[in-house]
Amino acid sequence: MDIAGIAAKLQRLNPRVAAAAERLAVAIPAVRSRLDREHDRMLAGMEASVKPYRGQVASFLRLPAQGVPRDEILQQVDDLAARERPRWRDGMVSGAVYHGDDDHIAFLSRVYAITSQVNPLHADLWPSATKYEAEIVAMTAGMLGGDAVLTDDSARQIVGSVTSGGTESILLAMRAYRDWARATRRITRPELVAPATAHVAFDKAAQYFRIRLVRVPVAADYRADVDAMRRAITRNTVALAGSAPTFPHGVIDPIEGLAAVARERGIGFHTDACLGGFVLPWARRLGYDVPGFDFNVPGVTSMSADTHKFGYAAKGTSVVLYRGAHLRSFQYFTATEWPGGLYFSPTLAGSRPGALSAVCWAAMVATGEDGYLEATRRSAAASRPSPTCGCWATRCGSSHSRPILSTSTACSSRWCGEAGT
Ligand SMILES: Cc1ncc(COP(=O)(O)O)c(C=O)c1O
Repeated sequence: MDIAGIAAKLQRLNPRVAAAAERLAVAIPAVRSRLDREHDRMLAGMEASVKPYRGQVASFLRLPAQGVPRDEILQQVDDLAARERPRWRDGMVSGAVYHGDDDHIAFLSRVYAITSQVNPLHADLWPSATKYEAEIVAMTAGMLGGDAVLTDDSARQIVGSVTSGGTESILLAMRAYRDWARATRRITRPELVAPATAHVAFDKAAQYFRIRLVRVPVAADYRADVDAMRRAITRNTVALAGSAPTFPHGVIDPIEGLAAVARERGIGFHTDACLGGFVLPWARRLGYDVPGFDFNVPGVTSMSADTHKFGYAAKGTSVVLYRGAHLRSFQYFTATEWPGGLYFSPTLAGSRPGALSAVCWAAMVATGEDGYLEATRRSAAASRPSPTCGCWATRCGSSHSRPILSTSTACSSRWCGEAGT
């Protein structure tokens, strides 16, 4: 049987059995060398598309003996940027560029140029970074139901951190749940229950932090199956997760049902709103039927929302939010005994690009509620009903009883999330 045949057979197996079978198969020398050959052939085919500049522009595999004049460097950077611009300029690159307007980019670049040296690790030198980040968190929390729980009670306040992206927001929240459960419930073999469609960042978190991730198959409409998720909970479960919306299909999981289950079991619930955090609140205001997904839902204890997606900031920022400062405290890292001094850092990195926080803050303040509303209105209008199937999601191929907001112009036949009729 060829490699593709073996792979197809493995895919039909239970993932654990498949992983064990794969380990055994690759230990056989003939299979190993066949795999290596296939791998080399595949890489050779990709080489030209991922390294198109080879031999075309000056390259530096070692430091140049003498520094290259800045003009020449700028020339090369300009040249490469000009070659790549047409790839995204006209849109149709869902998940890559979210704004793309020249004036907006020029404005963000100006803010970056002014603040490029800022490092939030040194809050004493740059208290402005603390201000920008605190305001980013407050504005995002306010938008996601935080205003509804405005309180002086630190156990109920919506608090958070600015991170480097959706993946880091998810990593940090999962690490917080792991350590919270160890401290408060003595769970030493933590498990996380997530629908099969939740972003792969949850797998990364599970791998990094040694959490067992239990992936639960979704229902026929590609949304999480609440009963199946409930059944997957064990006494080691530290949290459940759901998406608003999911990356693979763009559908919103039944967050209210999932969060109610988590609440009933006294465990955490994370809404991954990396994609929808800066769209759904505005869609609701525009009259779309958006189900509960944020801190207005009682069992939601943490959320991720990406400023560098529909928040229209430059790449490199996201927000992770928690219900209560106590839960957030498990995200933090502190070292008191290091000879280098007392060390505290809230996120994964040590030194951080404060300029990206300044840019994010500037993007949010410049866009404002009216800007986000207008952008959402235009996205919704772009996903108007298909003349062939009557569906509101772009090129969805099904018909629906009500308008569904597509967060993307790229769409698969399953994008919209309602079963087609
Ligand atoms: C729903 C969802 N969660 C998490 C992520 C991860 O975000 P990032 O690529 O910023 O790490 C993405 C990225 O597209 C996403 O769509």
